[in-house]
Amino acid sequence: MIRRILTDGIGEFDLTRLDVYRARGGFQALHKALTTMSPQDVFNEVKTSNLRGRGGAGAGAAFKWSTLPEDGRPRYLILNGDESEPGSFSGRMLIEKNPHLVLEGALLAAYACKMARVFIYLRGEFHEGAQILTRAVAEAREAGLVGPRILGSEFGVEVVVHRGAGAYICGEETAIMESLEGKRGHPRTRPPFPTASGLYGMPTVINNVETIANVVGIVANGGAWFAAIGPEKSPGTKICSVSGRVRRPGNYEIQMGTPLRELIEEHAGGLEPGHQLKFVLPAGASSALVLPKDLDTPLDFDSMMSIRSMLGSAGMLVCDERDCAVHVAYLGSRFYHHESCGKCTPCREGTGWTERVLHRMEHGAGRPGDTERLQALCRGIGGRKCLCLLGDFSVTYLQSALSAFPEEFVAHEQGGPCPVAAAVEVANR
Ligand SMILES: Cc1cc2nc3c(=O)[nH]c(=O)nc-3n(C[C@H](O)[C@H](O)[C@H](O)COP(=O)(O)O)c2cc1C
Ligand code: SF4
Repeated sequence: MIRRILTDGIGEFDLTRLDVYRARGGFQALHKALTTMSPQDVFNEVKTSNLRGRGGAGAGAAFKWSTLPEDGRPRYLILNGDESEPGSFSGRMLIEKNPHLVLEGALLAAYACKMARVFIYLRGEFHEGAQILTRAVAEAREAGLVGPRILGSEFGVEVVVHRGAGAYICGEETAIMESLEGKRGHPRTRPPFPTASGLYGMPTVINNVETIANVVGIVANGGAWFAAIGPEKSPGTKICSVSGRVRRPGNYEIQMGTPLRELIEEHAGGLEPGHQLKFVLPAGASSALVLPKDLDTPLDFDSMMSIRSMLGSAGMLVCDERDCAVHVAYLGSRFYHHESCGKCTPCREGTGWTERVLHRMEHGAGRPGDTERLQALCRGIGGRKCLCLLGDFSVTYLQSALSAFPEEFVAHEQGGPCPVAAAVEVANR
């Protein structure tokens, strides 16, 4: 079911303009918080809402905030707008089309967590988004919504918009801090966790932009309102980015719990006539494949875990019978090899070997035993052997492809042309 909360007004109004955003009720939640609520009240509403992080793992937002130590050190908030997951473009839409909502959510979160500085970290390629957001922050500052004594209150916060240099790893919560500090975006060892010692060694919360955008509705309407939307354990909405073999690719804000089938067949227009769904990668390249038998799975964190996949960032890549599992796996392996930061041996070496094996299989030079070689590589890389989850992401989709379509991998071991492409050619004759 489509339920437009974060995307309400997008496409109809120019919400990048502060006057338009305000005319539609924008910054009312901030006004309410600063005039009638204490930081603890705002925190309590977010806790009641049961808001879970939209950046992938679905961690409780209030739980994360509650782990900040009360030791008087400056605290920082980082909004994660790196969004480099293949097929994910929901954060980009919020930044480009509803930047004041993101900003208002950030100010509310900073107020709840008693923070004086917010960093909004954007993917390096978001040239337009960075311009739009920077303009929005400047406009808000001029109107007394950013900076000292916001809306005449005692609360003040500075907002910094920062662009990365285009590296997937900089979306990882500790690499983002290294990058902000001007170093190479390499993940840090944990503990300490960011809330204990994060950016510049200070307590830091990192949240996805969509997570933070949700705080506006929660403060405006109350945490109980949010908690009543969708499944009890995964409330709210999720903006799903759908791409690949569908007739209407795009972003769709659905109520959590909406079946994947409804998203693909109704909202995204279904597959092109005459073609059948083969699999969906529901969280970009980092998730296990969802097969047609699981298409009725509700889109929420727990239901997707129950079929051994995940909702993640909900970047849905839809593939049909024309897409060879080996080809898709090869594209994924190229991505991970390119994006591995190289700090851990299993990830650095393993992603390289995986790409080399899949490259030869994809290019008609597969060798007997390559399927088993890929399985061994997955065992060598996966299983939390690395400093961050990129290593595990690089094998999750591959292991599920190997188990769902073993015959396609075995056929590619023999060398020669791709059997899936050959079948498509025959069907097109
Ligand atoms: C390799 C890698 C890339 C990631 N990229 C992103 C990203 O682009 N955006 C994001 O919000 N989270 C990303 N994450 C997850 C973050 O580490 C972190 O969990 C998230 O920003 C927390 O926000 P949330 O609690 O609001 O979901 C990534 C994680 C890994 C391991
Ligand atoms: S798992 Fe890969 S990307 Fe993550 S720190 Fe290790 S080498 Fe870098």
